[in-house]
Amino acid sequence: MYRVETPVTEEDFEKYFQFRWVMLRKPWNYPPGSEKDEYEQVGHHRMVTDASGQVVAIGRLHFNTPEEAQLRHIAVHPDYQGKGLGKLVVSALESVARSEGIERIVTNSRELSTPFFQSCGFEVVGEGTTELGHLKREQMVKKLTEMNAVMLHPKWCKELQETWHQAIPISEQMGIKLYQYSGRTLEARASLNKNINLHGTMFAGSIFSLATLTGWGMLFLLLKEKGLKGEIVLGDANIHYHKPVTMQPRAICQIESLDGKFEPLSKGKKCPFRLIVELHDQHHPVAEFKGVYWVLPVEDTSEQPKH
Ligand SMILES: CC(C)(COP(=O)(O)OP(=O)(O)OC[C@H]1O[C@@H](n2cnc3c(N)ncnc32)[C@H](O)[C@@H]1OP(=O)(O)O)[C@@H](O)C(=O)NCCC(=O)NCCS
Repeated sequence: MYRVETPVTEEDFEKYFQFRWVMLRKPWNYPPGSEKDEYEQVGHHRMVTDASGQVVAIGRLHFNTPEEAQLRHIAVHPDYQGKGLGKLVVSALESVARSEGIERIVTNSRELSTPFFQSCGFEVVGEGTTELGHLKREQMVKKLTEMNAVMLHPKWCKELQETWHQAIPISEQMGIKLYQYSGRTLEARASLNKNINLHGTMFAGSIFSLATLTGWGMLFLLLKEKGLKGEIVLGDANIHYHKPVTMQPRAICQIESLDGKFEPLSKGKKCPFRLIVELHDQHHPVAEFKGVYWVLPVEDTSEQPKH
């Protein structure tokens, strides 16, 4: 089990920078300390740790302007490459950029990493500066649009989207779409126009439905991650509406909000999960949904959402 973490304590940062140095500077005989630059204080740092707490992947994002963010120092331990962890780090950092309203992300990729960044949606736009005196770099850019968020496990995400629309056809009428899944965060969005009320804001029932499906979707993808099958039903929920939605309805479920255990399911027992879905209007929090879902054991593979 891997966790995407934000380094917070001195000890976290020590592990994080040590990993960056070992991966990106030591092989070229640069001394400890050379791995840091002038953006560490203002940058957003993420690290992936394994079950024993060892750092296995890292990355950083900083803002060049209010419209542009830059990715730097992405690295995955050689023993853990090719498992999707690089993409997990990029996805977590891209999510930060999106939540800040950034329009494009740039990076100077080492030539060898160019296919990796291409697979995350970046395009080569020119030659970059040479790194460490000899590593050729390419300038790459990704324009952030509604349609090109990095999705971890795109096949599962497609299946989830189709399940929503087939099992609850009104979700398609409401314009509910899976927007981003990073393994830690799931974001779904809805169309405001399709859910408008007489005040010109989003209908409260639609906000509730968007939140319900987002929480449901998080459990659907986590079951996939764990190779388990289960029928997910909403048992109880409450929602607090703080402000109206007037622009872009977004529902975000963070894995940290999840409380529950999957183990009983593999023994044929149902298990309860509490989770929180935060509702945002563009970048502003507007409502909070707390749901209790039950995952029921099933024999067959069909998983139908219920509400
Ligand atoms: C580049 C790096 C970060 C990629 O991390 P990773 O965890 O191995 O990559 P992932 O497993 O997340 O791969 C994501 C996608 O990129 C593709 N990819 C990764 N490395 C690739 C390569 N060398 N050639 C072609 N495709 C590659 C994968 O096939 C995968 O594609 P998919 O999602 O369509 O299946 C990692 O190899 C690394 O740390 N390299 C050394 C340090 C470095 O060069 N850092 C970049 C500094 S600019």
